[in-house]
Amino acid sequence: MIIGQKEIFIEEINSTNQYAKELVSNTKPFEGTAIFTDYQQQGRGQNGNVWQGTRSENLYLSVILYPRFLAIQNHYLLNKAICLSVWESIAAYFPEVQIKWPNDIYAKGEKVAGILIENNLQGSNWQSAIVGIGVNLNQRVFPEGINATSLHNLTKREIDRTAYRKLLYKKLNKNYLAIRAGQKESIDRVYTKNLLGYQEVHAFEADGKKFTAQLLGVDNQGNLCLEQEGQLKYYRHGRLRQVVG
Ligand code: BTN
Repeated sequence: MIIGQKEIFIEEINSTNQYAKELVSNTKPFEGTAIFTDYQQQGRGQNGNVWQGTRSENLYLSVILYPRFLAIQNHYLLNKAICLSVWESIAAYFPEVQIKWPNDIYAKGEKVAGILIENNLQGSNWQSAIVGIGVNLNQRVFPEGINATSLHNLTKREIDRTAYRKLLYKKLNKNYLAIRAGQKESIDRVYTKNLLGYQEVHAFEADGKKFTAQLLGVDNQGNLCLEQEGQLKYYRHGRLRQVVG
């Protein structure tokens, strides 16, 4: 077991990703070191957004990895392995969940978890990756306009946060070791099968235009593959939005 063998708990912190980054630049932490907290003052989300959540109810976790075995052209495999692990851990409590490209886990049209992977590359060499994972576990109420839910709201029961965290470590270890062992296809297959809207005709928006297309998968650079008007098209994150709900 690599991930979670060494844990650091800090009651309150600005951001576990930020803390993990500082740890990597100041010391040489063991691979798999996991930092978690009860509350983040400045939790970071994707695209420079903030990640907010209540105190002592959710999971706010960052894991330090050194995925130097991954060629840069396959860098997105790490993202797939992480998304799949979070998906598997949530599906163990509530099976009707999906992975929403690029970094979210959705259930019943609402977001239950978000992932923020911050890579540190030198040239084309991977130095480290900080894997930030936020899972809404026991939060019951969300701010107006936020399309989110929690495992509690989905299952109507209190989630044991420690048991959930340990299960997540198990899934992360399994899938991280799989990509390290070169088992790309098996990770890709299960990841793709559980994508929100896989093989369905779905609504998307790119460059201000709305359209429908069939979702076929995600390549190992992270581009979403769609069949649009009989043609295969690849979209990178930032250009395309999958419309949910
Ligand atoms: C997103 O969906 O926007 C990604 C959210 C990632 C949030 C987690 S919580 C633990 C870790 N520390 C952070 O500051 N962010 C990530």
